[in-house]
Amino acid sequence: MTPPKDIPDRSGLSRSVSNSLNLSTSPNFSFHSPPSSFRAPPHRGSFPDTARSGSVSAAPPTHSKTLKPFDTKDIKVLLLENVNATGVDILKEQGYQVEALKSSLPEDQLIEKIRDVQVIGIRSKTKLTARVLQEAKNLIVIGCFCIGTNQVDLQFAAQQGIAVFNSPFSNSRSVAELVIGEIIALARQLTDRSMELHNGTWNKVSKGCWEIRGKTLGIVGYGHIGSQLSVLAESMGMSVIYYDIINMMALGIARQVASLDELLDQADFVSLHVPELPETKNLIGKKELDKMKNGSYLLNNARGSVVDIPALIEAMKEGRLAGAALDVFPHEPAGNGDYFTNDLNPWTQDLRNLKNLILTPHIGGSTEEAQSAIGVEVAQALARYVNEGSTLGAVNMPEVNLRSLTLEEPNAVRVVYIHKNVPGVLGQVNRILENHNVEKQMTDSKGDVAYLMADIADVKEAELKDLNQGLEALSSRIRTRVLY
Ligand SMILES: NC(=O)c1ccc[n+]([C@@H]2O[C@H](COP(=O)([O-])OP(=O)(O)OC[C@H]3O[C@@H](n4cnc5c(N)ncnc54)[C@H](O)[C@@H]3O)[C@@H](O)[C@H]2O)c1
Repeated sequence: MTPPKDIPDRSGLSRSVSNSLNLSTSPNFSFHSPPSSFRAPPHRGSFPDTARSGSVSAAPPTHSKTLKPFDTKDIKVLLLENVNATGVDILKEQGYQVEALKSSLPEDQLIEKIRDVQVIGIRSKTKLTARVLQEAKNLIVIGCFCIGTNQVDLQFAAQQGIAVFNSPFSNSRSVAELVIGEIIALARQLTDRSMELHNGTWNKVSKGCWEIRGKTLGIVGYGHIGSQLSVLAESMGMSVIYYDIINMMALGIARQVASLDELLDQADFVSLHVPELPETKNLIGKKELDKMKNGSYLLNNARGSVVDIPALIEAMKEGRLAGAALDVFPHEPAGNGDYFTNDLNPWTQDLRNLKNLILTPHIGGSTEEAQSAIGVEVAQALARYVNEGSTLGAVNMPEVNLRSLTLEEPNAVRVVYIHKNVPGVLGQVNRILENHNVEKQMTDSKGDVAYLMADIADVKEAELKDLNQGLEALSSRIRTRVLY
């Protein structure tokens, strides 16, 4: 891939070590001890500590060694679409060269710029197709500073040895809080009263308006959002039941029920928090709506495909449901504007005419806090991948991580070998490593691509080149990195 780079060492000799990234390695006096200018990552404290995770053996309390086999200023980062300042700052603090642009780029300009960078950060508008990624010869990692990753050709990226990270759970709290707001607003018909008064009509009513204290909330999907909601709802005096396809430990005094039917039969409010899957398409249709209690409420802040909306419209028109809140829709506009019409979904106008129906434009996770948390989470994942090779949280590669190398292991080297998932590779790799003590090693595969990480002890500077070239020569190789 990238030809090895000749780097003069301090003795004046030239040695050629490639980490196949075209990054200058650091064969200078700092080789076995990071220079003082190398700071620990600023947010290191919040990185997952694998020594404590249980997935690898526990390490004694030692000082982590910062792995940077390159001058950090050689890492070029392109951030598009106005990535949150928290993320920009973390990457700048690493010493990387960061170019942050407010908007996305037309494809030709994107291709021109992406050729040059090792890291790219995007949000939902930038399409990283195979055509674009084909040109990204130096790219090692993509950060999606958002929830979704369908704007990236994940499989093609993995086949090029490019890891992709996103931030799926940074906005869970924001969604849970919105649901609490919606439950109260529905119970008090708040949006109708507000709309009436905006139109000049004073309509003071108490009929059909309720406190939420003592009512039963049924949560479908007890994951990140569902479980947060459970805690908030109980603190408001609600009884919480939940249904999940897996057995989940209840928080507080919430209670798991055995079936969706049981939940629908008991809940005054039903709130959906399941992922978009073939099995969750129209999870709530006519049959389920018929099973809900008369006068109950439905809230969908999950995905638009989860509710059969024409069936919901029917149930609301018949007065069987007292209200509903929808934040997500089967088809949603690409940008802001007057697009919520029948052109988008054929039943839109019917929805707009219903009473006590809260309609919001997919804002469940849209808060300043969530954006800031996304910036931190994705930037940290990028820095951890660049500096330490950890794929924890990657969406297109197996998750592989080793506990940090420590300052007490000054001559240890971390080898990252991304390769095709074919038989015989481990044997070949270990033959190349056989003259060294492999302190720890982890490998895993996802589809066609496998990721191997090994920490090897006592590697002399002169041996780095052979090690690297040996791995580079294997036919299974996608990308090799040697970090020390
Ligand atoms: N409105 C928004 O802005 C917004 C923001 C974030 C997330 N979301 C959506 O919210 C939903 C939940 O997100 P999360 O982060 O809590 O996900 P999660 O993966 O943490 O939890 C989902 C839970 O649903 C359960 N589940 C899966 N299939 C099920 C089924 N058929 N029946 C019952 N339970 C099932 C899973 O076991 C899991 O516990 C997702 O659809 C996500 O896309 C929406």
